[in-house]
Amino acid sequence: MTTHAAPQARPADHPNARQEAIWNGPVGRHWAAQQDRYDAMSGDLDDHLFAAAAIGDGDRVLDIGCGAGTVTRIAARLAGRGRAVGVDISAPLLDRARARTAAEGVANVSYELGDAQTHRFPAGGYDVAISRGGVMFFADHAAAFGNVARALRPGGRLVFACPQPASPDIEESRALGMLAKLLGEQGAAASPESADARAAMASLSDPRRVRAALAAYTDVDVTALTIETYWGKDPADAVDFLLSRTPDASVPRVTRKAMEDTLTPHAGGRGVRMKARVWLVTATRPS
Ligand SMILES: C[S@@+](CC[C@H](N)C(=O)[O-])C[C@H]1O[C@@H](n2cnc3c(N)ncnc32)[C@H](O)[C@@H]1O
Repeated sequence: MTTHAAPQARPADHPNARQEAIWNGPVGRHWAAQQDRYDAMSGDLDDHLFAAAAIGDGDRVLDIGCGAGTVTRIAARLAGRGRAVGVDISAPLLDRARARTAAEGVANVSYELGDAQTHRFPAGGYDVAISRGGVMFFADHAAAFGNVARALRPGGRLVFACPQPASPDIEESRALGMLAKLLGEQGAAASPESADARAAMASLSDPRRVRAALAAYTDVDVTALTIETYWGKDPADAVDFLLSRTPDASVPRVTRKAMEDTLTPHAGGRGVRMKARVWLVTATRPS
């Protein structure tokens, strides 16, 4: 089942118009082109997410902000005779998701282009809603999670992962902070869309904000996890990837060497990996 639901019409100034532009522009295209790298980066999260989601045969699963759909397809396989639907605001990422789904021959998956904050989901149409880092970008988190609650059946579960606040105590934040300094203006100011996406990425890093946004749910639990993120097969490969996210994709040789040196302590037999911290959030739609 690879149905392509028609996008629902909405005004050009809808609340998430800025994020829609970002994820349909260079940021979304970069995520689509580098899907395997981004999947490897967050792949450590999947076992935790799926253990908490406890998807069973016959479940109807909604993947919020599904991107290129890797998590949606895992959910579909776990759902067996059930199905998984991925919703995302990014056309290039959904193109990628559909191409991969066809290549992998997963039959019980479909994708819908839409803003999960306002999308008209079937009321009570899902048993489980999941998200690997796709729920931080809403202008109004409470409205968005309320919309998802209406899509869940009474007693349905919500499970998502989102980043903890950046801190010098965290290996990945420390290294990324050093790399951002080396990149200087090229890394941040030259790419304002990426800067906006990064700011939104941190919007649920305070657990009090998570709990406030989940007022429509019961049994809210926010658990701290430490995972390892993957950045490349060696420091040179990781720097190539980091530079591919900047407009020029190149830096002076001395800067490049300093970037590789920053990543060298994190390189090993399984590539460049860094410890990062995320929240795993679970909640239930009241019966
Ligand atoms: C950090 S990526 C994560 C993608 C995917 N969950 C994964 O693990 O690879 C965030 C995703 O959220 C999507 N997104 C942002 N705002 C959204 C919204 N209002 N409604 C639906 N999707 C949204 C983006 O297009 C992007 O695909």
